[in-house]
Amino acid sequence: MQNVNLKPCPAHGGVLDAPDANGGRLRIPHPIPYQGSKRNLAPAILAYFPENTDTLIEPFAGSAALTLAAAARGLADRYVINDLNKPLMDLWRAIINLPEKLARQYEAIWKAQHGDRRNYYDEIRDEFNATGRPDCLLYLLARCVKASVRYNAKGEFNQSPDNRRMGALPETMRDHIFGASYLLRGKTECCSLDYTKVVAGATADDFIYMDPPYQGVCGERDPRYLKAVLFDEFVETLEMLNHRDIRYMVSYDGRTGDKVHGRKLPENLRLHLIELEAGRSSQATLLGRAEVTVESLYLSPTLAECLRLPRRYRQRHVEQMVLLEAKR
Ligand SMILES: C[S@@+](CC[C@H](N)C(=O)[O-])C[C@H]1O[C@@H](n2cnc3c(N)ncnc32)[C@H](O)[C@@H]1O
Repeated sequence: MQNVNLKPCPAHGGVLDAPDANGGRLRIPHPIPYQGSKRNLAPAILAYFPENTDTLIEPFAGSAALTLAAAARGLADRYVINDLNKPLMDLWRAIINLPEKLARQYEAIWKAQHGDRRNYYDEIRDEFNATGRPDCLLYLLARCVKASVRYNAKGEFNQSPDNRRMGALPETMRDHIFGASYLLRGKTECCSLDYTKVVAGATADDFIYMDPPYQGVCGERDPRYLKAVLFDEFVETLEMLNHRDIRYMVSYDGRTGDKVHGRKLPENLRLHLIELEAGRSSQATLLGRAEVTVESLYLSPTLAECLRLPRRYRQRHVEQMVLLEAKR
């Protein structure tokens, strides 16, 4: 095991609170704003985290919401975060290993915003596309539409700014950066590989959490960083993990009311299905319908066995999700 630095860090500024034995609220740092983040669902997902986990592997990490929530609870000895998006993983390396430098850089970029914030955003976007600088990416994610990463066919970031968003205040961002660094430094490996390569090295002592991009979202439009995850290849990868008795969980399809999103994973994988209530659909609420969004969480056969869960598949059992974490 690598050196683990667990010294209290005065600069985490209270973003990270100690776990509360009475089921109280944990405030988890979340430095990267990211569309599709599992930040709010993480506490419900972690209810199925197995004991005695050496390494938590997150092959589709994005903002690594589950890894941060697990690290705050000390659930694994080590962590592997991976995402095919290399600049995103460079940003993670900067957050974990160079928090002071990154916090200062973000502050400098943020404070230089002036009256013409639209043009300023474009300048930072050009700088990011020319250099891949992590501080520029952090600013873009803090300011862009829906915190949603979009690249053009040349691999250039081309998402527009949301002119209502200023981006997190520098002091707030500093707290989140230092909080994440405190949790992950000295025990986390960052990589930017295809997920198949990352899961290939998992052992029976590890635990994998997979949250692949929504099917149909990442087509050939974004070939450099957002290669589509093909359904058949994904199913084959899960079969291989089953064969090796690896403990894993997958967030995959879901539904809002009766509308199903994505394709269900096949029954022959012998997965245990949990349905998590992810909140009310704002669109349905606007239309006067009380529809909730439900996300599927699939547990591998070995994990379900470890947790002594009876096999459950395609039943409409919805776990009421407890929103322990407030939105920033
Ligand atoms: C739904 S997001 C994950 C969100 C994450 N759970 C969070 O809390 O922020 C899926 C991620 O998978 C990454 N990705 C897409 N294709 C990939 C691949 N073939 N291998 C690894 N990562 C990939 C995308 O860049 C994206 O960040």
